[in-house]
Order: sequence, then structure tokens, then C-alpha cells
Amino acid sequence: MVDAYNLLGYDAVGVSRTDLAGGMDFLKQLQKKANFTWLSANLVDKKNTPLFTPFIIRKKAGLRIAILGLTGSGAANEPQERENYLILSWQDLLPETMKEIRKQADLVILLSSLSPLENELISQQFHDIHIIIQAGMYSHNQNPVLANNTLICQAEKQGKYIGQLRINWHKTGRWTDETTDATFSKKQELERLTWQIKKLESQGNPEIVFADTPATLQGYHKLVERRKAVEKEITDLRPNMGQRQQSSTFNNTFLAIAPNLDDDPDMEKIIDKTRAEINALGRSGSSNGTLSDYVGSEACMKCHHEIGERWQQTRHAHAYETLVRKEQQFNLKCLPCHVTGVSILDKNPSAALSLPDSLHNVGCETCHGPGMAHSVNPDEAKLHDSPDAYICLQCHSSEHDGAFNFEQDKKLVH
Ligand code: HEC
Ligand code: HEC
Ligand code: HEC
Ligand code: HEC
Repeated sequence: MVDAYNLLGYDAVGVSRTDLAGGMDFLKQLQKKANFTWLSANLVDKKNTPLFTPFIIRKKAGLRIAILGLTGSGAANEPQERENYLILSWQDLLPETMKEIRKQADLVILLSSLSPLENELISQQFHDIHIIIQAGMYSHNQNPVLANNTLICQAEKQGKYIGQLRINWHKTGRWTDETTDATFSKKQELERLTWQIKKLESQGNPEIVFADTPATLQGYHKLVERRKAVEKEITDLRPNMGQRQQSSTFNNTFLAIAPNLDDDPDMEKIIDKTRAEINALGRSGSSNGTLSDYVGSEACMKCHHEIGERWQQTRHAHAYETLVRKEQQFNLKCLPCHVTGVSILDKNPSAALSLPDSLHNVGCETCHGPGMAHSVNPDEAKLHDSPDAYICLQCHSSEHDGAFNFEQDKKLVH
């Protein structure tokens, strides 16, 4: 996503709670790769220093535009404390921050992952926050709503749409209430028409797709004609309105990122690279480590004596000897289930022939996973403390143990 935002030329991104799912350190690492600014005025460290930039000022089209970020805390009004950061409440810090911003900006945009209710409260208290771009709470496109003097906007999540807001900004810093605007109903009609047309076009070129159904094709042509007419009506109405009031106006569209749009070749490269990384992660997760990640049960027993003693009384601890007795210890059809590390051997069964003695028998790591790192640093590197049935079923298949019962049998392992 960071690569994609770089390519798209983003100016700023608001940090939301979802971005913190991987922890602050992870986010800070990602931030190093970004060519855009990460904004949050209320995400601070334990010394109350902001962890990201609170706001930026961009000069565009003769305007000084402030972009400010606020991170949603989950619960309103309460500072939220996490391991290495705090989310302050906007009530405490917005008055001060706005004092600073006001002096420097003509237009103020807030990127907010607070709840819709909190955004509305902000609009009541800060009439000079002109636009709030809201995130997270709704999963649909929301036409801009004018609350007091703040336009609250929201586009569908997961990048399914681009929300485009075109504004005609007037120095007074006041919005025209679009709902009393003569063009309002026309714009609604325009949106409906556009939706209907897109729907028909989404199946392919209508001239070809509907060649055999003339009624549909005719309907499509009517819609396109009507859209042209409505567009003209809106432009004809607009100048009058501009003269009527000395205030700012806006209109908006949602652009669907539909499958029939061509992919940008550079963006496709980023997506392919990401897919390859995900696949590689999946691959390394599915093989349960390499042989060098295993230490053998003896090492575990140094610290887990009692469990070790109990395990030694079980048949798991003698599974290899069973094969030796049957003189089958070099049979690759038998070995994988009578030694440790079955899931890696699954992919490379012949490795079972060259296992060290310490990995003979069904040892601790068969069920708890490779334990080299844990043996060296038990507090940091954790193991599965309660292995699932599916681990057992790799060996206790119906063919080899028709009577296997996980709930009962797991009590017998040590
Ligand atoms: C790597 C293969 C493998 C895995 C994984 C495995 N077992 Fe076993 N298990 C065996 C073999 C082989 C024997 C018989 C050993 C012998 O008698 O030589 C056995 C025997 C047993 C026995 C009889 C032991 C006794 O002393 O009475 C129980 C109970 C058992 N397994 C439970 C489990 C449970 C529960 C799990 C999962 C948590 C599990 N096994 C996972 C291979 C496996
Ligand atoms: C898919 C895993 C798996 C394979 C492959 C496997 N075993 Fe086992 N073996 C087990 C399990 C599980 C048990 C424990 C069954 C039980 O306790 O009922 C077991 C138990 C045994 C036992 C002791 C109990 C008995 O039935 O006498 C012997 C002997 C044995 N296996 C030999 C072999 C030989 C020889 C081969 C190769 C031809 C082999 N095993 C292949 C999973 C396997
Ligand atoms: C055949 C699979 C199997 C083997 C082999 C095995 N364990 Fe376990 N272990 C389990 C299961 C299953 C549990 C969870 C038991 C439960 O939830 O009742 C467990 C729980 C544990 C726990 C945490 C709970 C406790 O009892 O303290 C530790 C520690 C542990 N095992 C260590 C070991 C060590 C050390 C060995 C080798 C000496 C070993 N295990 C061998 C399956 C196994
Ligand atoms: C140097 C001592 C030491 C060795 C060696 C060791 N353990 Fe542990 N193990 C511990 C301690 C201490 C804990 C408790 C950690 C905690 O509670 O934070 C623990 C916890 C566990 C647990 C519970 C889950 C967890 O990670 O907290 C399992 C399962 C376990 N050990 C299995 C093993 C196995 C399997 C081996 C061998 C591969 C092994 N241990 C080797 C010291 C050791």
C-alpha cells in the first residue's frame, strides 16, 4: 500500500487504529518507505510528544491548505493507553492545534478515523474545519453532508471507489448549503443516471452486448442522452448561484474501480510483487522450519524434567525402537511417523534417513514445533502450549490408528 500511495503521489495519509494492528514499531518501519506524510495530532509517546506529524500546509491553486490528522481511539473521551503510545482525546488538543493552524491556512481538511458522531461534534465546535474526510465506520460511499460549516465525506473502504470532491473556494470560508441549491435535485438525477449507465457498461461495450436486445440498447442510448442534458442544465444553473451568494460550492463523484478498467502497468508490478511476497510467507509458514530449528527432546528435558519423565514412559518415546525391532528403521514408508519433524519430512521424506539420534522417536517437537529458539530463550520464543488434533492426525490416520480419540489420547502424551 505504501508503494502504491507513493506511485499515486499522495500528499498525506491519516493514521488510523487499523494501521496500528502490527504495532507501532512496524508502522514506523513502513513510514520510512513513504514519500508522503503520515498525519496524527493525537497519537503521542509516553512523554506526550506526537509520534507523527500533526498537520501539514500545502500551497495549491493560490490557497494555503492545512491537512490535519486525528486517530480514532475506539472509546470516546478517554485517552487510550497502549504499550508504547497513547491516543489523546481530540477535546483536549484540538483547540490548541486549531489556534496554530488558523493563522497559516485558508482551507482546513481533517483526515479523521474518529466515529461519525465525534466528527459531527467537531463540526459543531470548529466551524473553520472545512472538510472532514472520515474513515472506517461506514463501508459505503457517502455523499458529502454539510454539518454546520463542515463537509463530512466518506468513500467506500478498501479502495473500491475514488471519492472526488471538486470545490470552488471562496475567501469567506463559508459553504453554500447545497440542499437549498437549485442544482441539488439535478445532481441527484445525474448520479442515478451515471450509476445506471455504468451498470450497463460493466458487462462490456453495450453496442455489442445488447446487439440482440434492441429494447435494452435503446434504453441505454436514452440514458446517455438524458445524462448529457442534465449535465448541461446543471452548468446553466451554476453562474446564477455564484452571483447570488459569496460562498464556496462543491460537487462530487465516486469513481468505481471496476474490473473493466485497465490496470496501470506500474501499479500491476507492485501488486505482483506483493502477491509473490505473500506466497513466500505462506510457503515458509507451511514448512515447519528446517532441521536446524530442532534440538531434540533431551534438550527440552533439561528444563521440563517431570514432563520429560512422563513422556519417556509413553510409546512415542520408543517409536523408533519399534521400527528397529521390526528391522524397518530404514524404510521410508515407515520412518516419517516414527520420528520427529514429520511435517518437514513430508516434503523431503529421505531426510528421515539422516536424522541425528536426538530426533529419533516421536519427541517433544513433533507436537510443539521446532524448539531451538525456545531452548535458548524460553521467555521470548514461545511454543504451541496446546497442540491441535490435526497435528496428531498426520500420524494417527484412520489407517494406522482407527481408534484415535483426541480428547482422551491427549491426556496420555505426558
Ligand atoms: C509423528 C507421528 C505422530 C504424531 C504427530 C503423534 N503420534 Fe501418537 N503415536 C505415534 C506412533 C508411531 C505411536 C506408536 C509408537 C510405538 O508404539 O512404537 C504413537 C502412539 C500414541 C499413543 C499410545 C501411547 C502409549 O504409550 O500408550 C497415544 C495415546 C498417542 N500416540 C497420542 C497422540 C496424540 C494425542 C498426538 C497429538 C497431540 C499424537 N499422538 C501425535 C506417532 C505419532
Ligand atoms: C501415517 C503414520 C504411520 C506410518 C507411515 C507408519 N506408522 Fe506405525 N504407527 C503409527 C501410529 C499412529 C501407531 C500407533 C497406533 C496405535 O497405538 O494404535 C503406530 C504403531 C506401530 C507399531 C506398534 C503397534 C502395532 O500395531 O504393533 C508398529 C510395530 C509399527 N507402527 C510399525 C510400522 C511400520 C513397520 C511401518 C512401515 C511399514 C509403519 N509403522 C508406518 C503411525 C504410522
Ligand atoms: C504427542 C504430542 C506431544 C508430545 C510428544 C509432547 N507434548 Fe507437550 N503437550 C502436548 C499436548 C496435547 C499438550 C496440551 C495438553 C492439554 O491441553 O491437556 C501439551 C502441553 C505441554 C506443555 C504445557 C502444559 C503443561 O503440561 O505444562 C509443556 C510445557 C509441554 N507440553 C512440554 C513438552 C515436553 C518438554 C515434551 C517432551 C519431553 C512434550 N511436551 C512432548 C502434546 C505433546
Ligand atoms: C532453558 C530452559 C528450557 C528449555 C531448554 C526448554 N524450555 Fe520450554 N519452557 C521453559 C520456560 C521457563 C517456560 C515458561 C515460559 C513462560 O511461562 O513464559 C517454558 C514453556 C514451554 C511451553 C509452554 C508454552 C510457552 O512457550 O510458554 C512449552 C510447550 C515448552 N516450554 C516446550 C518446550 C520444548 C518442546 C522444549 C525443547 C524443544 C523446551 N520447552 C525447552 C524453559 C525451557
